[in-house]
Amino acid sequence: MLLLKHALIGFGSKINFSKLQGSSYSLFPYLLCLLKLTAMKRPLCFLFMILFFNANKAQVKLQNLLVENLSNPQGIDNATPRFSWQLISDKRNIMQTAYELHVGTNKSVLAKSANLEWSSGKINSDSSVHVAYKGKRLQSGKKYFWQVRVWDNQGNPSPWSETAYWRMGLLDSSDWNAKWIESPLDKDGDQRPAIHFRKEFQSSKKVESAVAYITAHGVYEAMINGKRVGNFYLTPGWTSYNKRLQYQIYDVTDLIARGDNCIGITLANGWYRGFLAWGGNKNTWGKDLSLLFQLDIHYSDGSNESIVSEKSWKSSIGSIVDAEIYHGEIIDSRKEKTGWTNVGYNDAGWSTVIEKNYSKSVLIATQNEPIKKHETFSPLKVFTTPKGEKVIDFGQNLVGWVKVKLNGRAGDTIKIFHAEVLDKDGNFYTDNLRAAKAQAVYILKGGEESFEPHFTFFGFRYIKIEGLQSAINPENFTAVALYSDMKPTGTFTCSNPLVNQLQHNIQWGQKGNFLDVPTDCPQRDERLGWTGDAQAFSRTAAFNMNVNNFFSKWLKDVAADQLPSGSIPFVIPNVLGPNAGAATGWADACTIIPWNMYLLYGDKRILEQQYSTMKAWVDYMKKNSKNDLWNTGYHFGDWLFYRPFDDNDGRAAVTDKYLIAQSFYAYSTQLLIKAAQVLGKLTDANEYSDLLKKIKEAYIKEYVTPSGRLVSNTQTAYVLALNFDLLPASLQAVAAQRLVDNIKSYGTQLTTGFLGTPYLCHVLTRFGYDSVAYQLLFRDKYPSWLYPVKMGATTIWERWDGIKPDSSFQTPSMNSFNHYAYGAIGDWMYRTIAGINIDEEQPGYKKITIQPHLTDSLRFATASIETYYGKLSSEWKKENGTTVLNVEVPANTTATIFIPANSAEGVSESGKNIQTVFKQVETKNGYIVLKTGSGKYSFVVNRKKDM
Ligand code: BGC
Repeated sequence: MLLLKHALIGFGSKINFSKLQGSSYSLFPYLLCLLKLTAMKRPLCFLFMILFFNANKAQVKLQNLLVENLSNPQGIDNATPRFSWQLISDKRNIMQTAYELHVGTNKSVLAKSANLEWSSGKINSDSSVHVAYKGKRLQSGKKYFWQVRVWDNQGNPSPWSETAYWRMGLLDSSDWNAKWIESPLDKDGDQRPAIHFRKEFQSSKKVESAVAYITAHGVYEAMINGKRVGNFYLTPGWTSYNKRLQYQIYDVTDLIARGDNCIGITLANGWYRGFLAWGGNKNTWGKDLSLLFQLDIHYSDGSNESIVSEKSWKSSIGSIVDAEIYHGEIIDSRKEKTGWTNVGYNDAGWSTVIEKNYSKSVLIATQNEPIKKHETFSPLKVFTTPKGEKVIDFGQNLVGWVKVKLNGRAGDTIKIFHAEVLDKDGNFYTDNLRAAKAQAVYILKGGEESFEPHFTFFGFRYIKIEGLQSAINPENFTAVALYSDMKPTGTFTCSNPLVNQLQHNIQWGQKGNFLDVPTDCPQRDERLGWTGDAQAFSRTAAFNMNVNNFFSKWLKDVAADQLPSGSIPFVIPNVLGPNAGAATGWADACTIIPWNMYLLYGDKRILEQQYSTMKAWVDYMKKNSKNDLWNTGYHFGDWLFYRPFDDNDGRAAVTDKYLIAQSFYAYSTQLLIKAAQVLGKLTDANEYSDLLKKIKEAYIKEYVTPSGRLVSNTQTAYVLALNFDLLPASLQAVAAQRLVDNIKSYGTQLTTGFLGTPYLCHVLTRFGYDSVAYQLLFRDKYPSWLYPVKMGATTIWERWDGIKPDSSFQTPSMNSFNHYAYGAIGDWMYRTIAGINIDEEQPGYKKITIQPHLTDSLRFATASIETYYGKLSSEWKKENGTTVLNVEVPANTTATIFIPANSAEGVSESGKNIQTVFKQVETKNGYIVLKTGSGKYSFVVNRKKDM
């Protein structure tokens, strides 16, 4: 091959070899033409023929090998993990017809068949996602390697994939030799200092592998021989700790020295016992910090050793004087125990520790991606406010903290305050943080020092600095964004810069609020896993990033915290007590999110995992209904809907809360039925189908007039009725018309709150009102999605008018500038503007629909998503009297593509008449529709001919 390439270059050819390799028969005429043009002699002609032959035998390659949706994960405690892989090919219509998978404990034996834990044999199947392990019993703490190969529908086998691996977690509580330990120095008080734990040990032989398992009551940071273990933050993450406590697994082989070693671990309050919610609430899960640590060393002579937390460890208080999620961190570096995580430090003055007998049965391996550091920001502007405050603007509302370099005398105290916005006069504004102090306080020991917090986070764009003796040097300040390390998957761009900024704001709203748990906001004294917000945003979230494991982990906490009555708490993990639950549209997160995740990632296991929770919630509503009408209990309703200042015309968009409750009762029941059907629970499917019929009848009897008017004549009422299919077909068109009339009566303005907004534009599109949906999207006056953008937002606001047109603020008691719920419009942008859709028949993008909805207000729009099968993209643009639609469909999937054209005439694909390329081309409602397989397609619609 190399020779051929050189030969070609030698002959001055302009052919790009790498592109040619993946090309297909369509190149043949060009090759012939080239041969004629260059009047080639026979040998060269022969070379080209070989090259062409090879190109057409190009094999499918495999990449992106995942176990339980993660790349080479450390710590899976699922006894039958699932494997996924991607087929890569430049050819069109590539499908997998069979696969073979090998799993072993030794990397070198894989491609052979001996000594394997599992050899699947050749399985005739097109499954390349979530293929379950069926081999020998997997063992605690063991590292397994795997490889896969496939056969494609052209009869070609792929080469074996590269080797990937995963490590099993500790599958049984008896695998833990470690003891829970606590420090007698850990006392309650106004400030609760972080606690250091340390232990030196000897490792006299050659280490082959060393794996650390760590968790805590509190949050921890671990060091071995002065080096940080891993790059995760705020570990062990946040779960319903009394039922599920995650541990992390680290391969620390490289950190262990031959001879003396030192382990140093710091614990702080975190969510476990720090301040959470309101009224000084703390110690939600317990009042003591505890550590559980186990280091399993495997020596090259075959022997093993475990270094575990137990009573011989020592503890001390160090420089972290206090650390709270809401209030920030205080570090007094004069109190630093210099060198305490290194061998040889004199810990004679340190305290002994106490062993505790806490249960280990709640321990679980970490399922989702831990929190990591991501983007960094340098100061955009350093300035002094009218009040004389020294402020830095980082240009982006982000969640994380600021790394600083400070220089001063011992005892100098530097305070850093955090704010999302400046007020009307340009002063630093923190009233909306409510009781959260959100401060980083550094007390210097003298000289130049670097600081960053460890056990807190802030939501901010601006910082105010107090106590600095010198002028601010911007180079000494770097903002760092922290969030769960989910893989970015989606992009969306169009010709309207304000909409692009909206997309940016949606993504940053997601980054700032996906810190191990989906939170409402990241800055004030709240930051809780509000269920309603999470369900509203879940589909949009899954476009922007891979949130499969993130939500799957959180949904297990939803299940764990479900009350015996079936009620789902307002927030998960539940920190608000047993009576704060069962609110419509919030509790339904337990049915909506599992269903969404199943659709988006095609994984039935999430439905199996959540089914009993879904069912218990529907049963709760059933039990609390009379004559199939659920009209009791406390509800938030269509939270933060539009309310004009002057409501003399009675135009506020108040939707009856029980009408909403009945709507979501029907929707959750519908989703339960669908889940039952997917899981083959046909008795349930039938039983709940009967119930759904009755729920809808009760809805119509109570809330709909015979002519189709709803008792609440609001956008949200119509949107829910239409989106959840509550009305008979005969009343749908009239209801859609009423919705549009309502929107127009406000001057083409939305009035929806948290519950109506996610579905508003989808309903308009479904009933043929794209133009109204687009007008709502492009509106930039309050209330609208682009109003905050025009006001300079870099994230999504909690309220449509967080900052009013006169630059004054909404009430400080509820005015977050980083609240993702209204960002739910992102789902419509991907699915309607760019037209990327799932086919429910084969979810997870195994079967795809591409149907862009064009508008005269945009010249182009392009979106892509990294699916488990590979990249899927849709781009349309209008140029020179044509409409171009470029589509990329990943291998091993099929797609139905809707090309915006009235007839096939004048429509081409890669330069050829469309009817010569595709066998079946249909015409439907302003589109021509064709079915195809993988590949890149470029359609051109000549608009003049299309008229
Ligand atoms: C949160 C919301 C949440 C709501 C319940 C607020 O305090 O910030 O986002 O859903 O309470 O209505």
